[in-house]
Amino acid sequence: MTDQVTRSDAPATVSKIAAVSGDKAGAAEEQTFYYPPNDLVETSNIMAYVREKGFDSYDELYEWSIKNPQEFWADMARRLVDWYQPWDTILDESNAPFYKWFVGGKINIAYNALDRHVKTWRKNKVALIWESEQGETKTFTYYQLWQQVNRWANVLKAMGVKRGDRVTIYLPRIPELPIAMLACAKVGAMHSVVYGGFSVEALHSRIQDAQSRLVITADGGWMNGKVVELKKITDEAIRTSPVVETVLVVRRTGHEVTMQPGRDVWMHDLLALPIASPKFETEVMDAEDPLYMLYTSGTTGAPKGLVHTQGGYQVGIATTLHFVFDIKEDDVYWCAADPGWVTGHSYIVYGPLILGATQVMYEGAPSYPYPNRWWSIVEKYGVTVLYTAPTAIRGLMRFGEAWPNRHDLSSLRLLGSVGEPINPEAWRWYYRVIGKGRCPIMDTWWQTETGMFMITPNPTTPLKPGSGTKPFLGIEADVLNEEGQPAGPDEDGLLVIKRPWPAMLRTIYGDPERYVRQYWSRFPGLYTAGDAARKDEDGYFWVIGRIDDVIKVSGYRLGTAEVESALVSHPAVAEAAAIGLPHEVKGNAIHTFVILRQGYEASEELAEELRQHVGKVLGPIARPEAINFVASLPKTRSGKIMRRVLKARALGLPEGDLSTLEA
Ligand code: WT7
Repeated sequence: MTDQVTRSDAPATVSKIAAVSGDKAGAAEEQTFYYPPNDLVETSNIMAYVREKGFDSYDELYEWSIKNPQEFWADMARRLVDWYQPWDTILDESNAPFYKWFVGGKINIAYNALDRHVKTWRKNKVALIWESEQGETKTFTYYQLWQQVNRWANVLKAMGVKRGDRVTIYLPRIPELPIAMLACAKVGAMHSVVYGGFSVEALHSRIQDAQSRLVITADGGWMNGKVVELKKITDEAIRTSPVVETVLVVRRTGHEVTMQPGRDVWMHDLLALPIASPKFETEVMDAEDPLYMLYTSGTTGAPKGLVHTQGGYQVGIATTLHFVFDIKEDDVYWCAADPGWVTGHSYIVYGPLILGATQVMYEGAPSYPYPNRWWSIVEKYGVTVLYTAPTAIRGLMRFGEAWPNRHDLSSLRLLGSVGEPINPEAWRWYYRVIGKGRCPIMDTWWQTETGMFMITPNPTTPLKPGSGTKPFLGIEADVLNEEGQPAGPDEDGLLVIKRPWPAMLRTIYGDPERYVRQYWSRFPGLYTAGDAARKDEDGYFWVIGRIDDVIKVSGYRLGTAEVESALVSHPAVAEAAAIGLPHEVKGNAIHTFVILRQGYEASEELAEELRQHVGKVLGPIARPEAINFVASLPKTRSGKIMRRVLKARALGLPEGDLSTLEA
């Protein structure tokens, strides 16, 4: 395997030592299994389903689900969401890998997230509690959120947005972000959300690829006490995008921005017009109509717009959230991700609302103004389920136990982790200090592509720190060696998914061939995730990391190609290479190697200038940790940079097979 991410803290092997039986064999310094509390297991949604189906154990239910996946998913599609018209075919495999789910079904995700709740007692239930970094709060009942989304949908329609149009949304973490997304869904337009931490070039290329005629942004956003100039970045990004006709601007910071007459309109002005009625007739969509596209970094070239659809997607996310985070009517759920990432799409904007949950959304940085910010939010709102990323846990861990210990965290019952492998040390801290040993950690492995959790525990699963445990109901996964044979226990291999699932991506926007090539051609008929993994003797999966040129920085996915092209867009840079190296808090950090053009000299100042430049072009998350000035780069004879060699050198590891290295 090439260029594999090596994590020093990921356990190489796992010996099976029963924690509870007290078996001391092997003199292991860590217990293998962490068992969930009995009452949690007994009252869980998943156990209720096990019993209802007449099974004796979860494992029996799982076996049934993978023998009858279509029956399982259809059962979920009937229970958890409402359809305007039922489907004719559960799964159409006739044009694989362009799978279709719930063919013939009519549905709208916004109907299930909002419309249906306001017809029930949930009308006045709190849907969303939002807290800003500055300490403001806003609360929306389902009725209030529904009305607000309707008003937005009316405005979008009045601005000419139609079914199938692509709307680019570039907003901070404010309620208007989910509102804008839900309004697009109501109108039947695809949203393309660009994370507020991205910058000019990233936004520009996404608008261009999607050919969005309408962009929604804000006069700015708050992060770490500073204003991010979203409108200014938007202006720069669309300077060379003639396709953009309209920019809707949300007033957030009150900072002054330039409004271009005829193009830019304040959203609050439009919402004050009679067209912005709080009633809207939700579009009836086909199950396979696209719901959104979300760009993600790939191996080469420009980011890919992954397309998710209306029907199967909502079935997949509602099912996984219901069973994994065990959402009940009285839960206060908090996913601390940004709605701009798939985690936020599936498990902030859509999933919790479909299930009628109450959720918290927090705008700012975890340690602003002090490292107890998150724990004070848990205490203040009585959060019961907290879902975050290893990088955030490691970041907060650094400040010590005193900060969380100052707060009453007893409302918590389940914890979650996503984005990258969680190192056992961070897992144990999260488990002990935050969960007080009572709250199982749902380490959910999934991707922008998968749309929903794929390998994950549920509240009944015995846990091992650092493992996402086993595939979810209806999902069959495996680890294969280079030849496509199942890898042996604890042997590294490629993570594959063996059959289609409802929330899977349907294609790459505008590039169906790349979809086939990227995901379905390594092993025909199987979905290749792009991750290296191993399975232990208990069948538990251990994800190691990306095997392609994707770097996970603080859980964010960045392509080496993007960072490199940002660098060479600076006049001083002739050539550049980017690699990821282990970092204590970020998981990986971007290290770059730069060849300067003639007439430029390496200096500390230039290095800093280049770091700033990448930050300005791509966004602060892409700012390299290190710039190394070099005279040459290791290349193959065909001229491809051998990042694996750079990485091996940087880590002081053997450089491996150099037979293709340029002489
Ligand atoms: C990649 C997908 C899924 C939402 C956020 C990331 C890594 C994700 C885990 C986990 C180990 C994980 C994989 C995957 N990853 N979750 N629980 N354990 N690795 O979505 O940006 O599309 O990234 O994130 O490498 O391929 P994404």
